[in-house]
Amino acid sequence: MASESKDVFGRIEREQEGYLEELKDFLRIPSISTNPEHKEDVLRCADFVTEKLRDAGLEAETIATDGNPLVYAEWSGAPGKPTILFYGHYDVQPPDPLEEWDHPPFEPTVEGDLLVARGATDDKGQSFAQIKAVAAMLAERGSLPVNVKFLIEGEEEIGGESIDEFVYADGGERLACDAVVISDSSMFAPGQPSLLYGLKGLAYTEIKVKGPERDLHSGTYGGAVANPANALATIISRLWDAESGRVNIEGFYDDVKPLEDWERKQWAELPFDEEEYRRELGVEETFGEAGYSTLERTWGRPTIDVNGLYGGYQGAGAKTVLPAWAGAKVSMRLVPNQDPKKVARLFAAQVERVKPAGVTVEISEVHGAQPVLIETQGPIADAATGAQEDIWGKPPFLIREGGSIPVVATFAEVLKVPVLLVGLGLPDDRLHSPNEKFNLSCFYNGIKTIVRLLDRAAG
Ligand code: BES
Ligand code: ZN
Repeated sequence: MASESKDVFGRIEREQEGYLEELKDFLRIPSISTNPEHKEDVLRCADFVTEKLRDAGLEAETIATDGNPLVYAEWSGAPGKPTILFYGHYDVQPPDPLEEWDHPPFEPTVEGDLLVARGATDDKGQSFAQIKAVAAMLAERGSLPVNVKFLIEGEEEIGGESIDEFVYADGGERLACDAVVISDSSMFAPGQPSLLYGLKGLAYTEIKVKGPERDLHSGTYGGAVANPANALATIISRLWDAESGRVNIEGFYDDVKPLEDWERKQWAELPFDEEEYRRELGVEETFGEAGYSTLERTWGRPTIDVNGLYGGYQGAGAKTVLPAWAGAKVSMRLVPNQDPKKVARLFAAQVERVKPAGVTVEISEVHGAQPVLIETQGPIADAATGAQEDIWGKPPFLIREGGSIPVVATFAEVLKVPVLLVGLGLPDDRLHSPNEKFNLSCFYNGIKTIVRLLDRAAG
């Protein structure tokens, strides 16, 4: 079957070195959306993507928003044929802790089959594979078998507010399509592709605890004045049960859609190696909500996590000090039908309830994402499944994932078409971690997967 795309595959094989050099240029731009110091890099990165789409032969533009720019492109030379909207993001997470990288995060390095850099898999490498698939087809044939649109954002890693507004305002006019295809996730295992039917949502908050008007001597004042760092630890320890792993926030589980029996049964039958999972992560045991397996906890049950904790003396040696303040960044991963805004309110109420005396607490909502269950039926879904099978020799596992992609729920709601999450990465890609990587074999096979998807979608 894959032979129908042989012409384009030949070109991809001949030109793969060049594609890799272009991807490295993309990865050299430190487009860290959460850090205002990188605003210029974010703007430069959007223009980089627009140029690449233009070079590929699409009509492309950088669209300014109140936040970071969007990149929009289209090719509509196949009247009567379906239209596919590709989505990706050019922003990345902060690279720290820097000292844990083997090479600087924005100096992409090839080690054997691995391309190591921040954004390598999440999502520059995967999004670029979509772009290169279209570029290779246009270069080889002068046309595409279907119509394509691209919408690539620079705020995915901070909640995707601008793209959300854009999609709602558009209402499915310019963005009208038959399916959205996203490559911003991973395969189930090497050689085993996946198609996702669910993503978690997110409510991300920050707690700031304040005590005395200045840092104090911990001997002179310790025991007489509430210590904000101690108080923060008390608050945090009261937000979940260390024994059962259950979240201790009143009302937190009220809207949770229970796992279906069929999913629990199917997930239990997946070839998931718990021992290998622990080994790869360097943990002696897994921990989570009692009564659920690791896959159920990560894909289908809501959780709470401290992402960062600060306050007090952090330098070398010891300083005897009672800090004036302390803070924590706390996120909750949500499942259908939890609502991020409601959960953030429940969280704030709980913190107020459990906070110890003698300190004041400020809580802010940072960002969020809706949890989603996704429609994966229809001809383009079949084309995606067939394409994955053409390349990997196996049909994809239909699974859920624990990550979030905020705009997915909005696409589904506004465009009313299937949103197909065709992940090209691998589970050990270290997204958001030091030494993030993308396998070159995933990059090249990913390009081919998208080519097959387009050829198959033409019918
Ligand atoms: N690529 C991830 C989402 C993902 C991860 C999907 C793993 C499937 C499996 C995405 O770029 C991401 O990290 N999103 C953020 C969004 C959040 C900040 C709103 C996330 O999940 O932390
Ligand atoms: Zn990410």
